[in-house]
Amino acid sequence: MILSPAQLAQVDRYKLLIGGIVPRPIALVSTISPGGHVNVAPFSFFAGVGSNPMTLLFCPANTEQGTEKDSLRNAKPLSEGGTGEFVVNIVSVSIARQMAACAEPLAYGESEFELAGFTAAPSEAIKAPRVAESLISYECKTTQVIRTNPGQPAGGNIVIGEVLRVHVRDEIINDRLHIDAGLLDAIGRMGGPGAYCTTRERLEIPPGRGALGK
Ligand SMILES: Cc1cc2nc3c(=O)[nH]c(=O)nc-3n(C[C@H](O)[C@H](O)[C@H](O)COP(=O)(O)O)c2cc1C
Repeated sequence: MILSPAQLAQVDRYKLLIGGIVPRPIALVSTISPGGHVNVAPFSFFAGVGSNPMTLLFCPANTEQGTEKDSLRNAKPLSEGGTGEFVVNIVSVSIARQMAACAEPLAYGESEFELAGFTAAPSEAIKAPRVAESLISYECKTTQVIRTNPGQPAGGNIVIGEVLRVHVRDEIINDRLHIDAGLLDAIGRMGGPGAYCTTRERLEIPPGRGALGK
């Protein structure tokens, strides 16, 4: 089957993205509004960008009405009316249900922290709080927002942030800064709205020729 996105409904294009790009890591993004209300929501269109400077991105799509989700409203730069900061919190199996609860669309200013039973912990370099229950949190300063279809339903937005602090629970990291994947126990998102995977089964394959045993 070969499909042309231009001939598909938006919902079908979305299905082809989320069904094929799997598993996706999940950024549980905590932000604060210019008025001081905290917000937390999950985003699986999420990736690292580079390590010099340490940079990552997440992608809050526009709503069905073409408006910006609260996480984007809060994380966009000061010059665009946001606070210019956000925290990416990594999601372990132990907080998977609380993370999923945070996808509840609450009114702007209502806190998903309370709904999900998460604890807002202070960040060091920014005002947006961390999720205390997460084992790894990246405090970020927003450097850029790229909008692929501003004001349109489901239009994409890329929020790029420079990482200012990394919080890692002592018990999951060693002196050489290796994070123990088993202890982190991160989950990924799969195709359907409620479909996830664990990282409990892993493969070791050396890079390059060694992968082929040569
Ligand atoms: C696991 C998971 C991953 C999600 N990933 C995304 C995503 O990458 N982009 C997006 O726009 N919405 C995503 N959502 C939906 C948002 O979390 C949802 O729209 C949320 O209400 C947005 O909150 P906000 O308005 O407070 O920013 C995801 C939901 C779940 C449960």
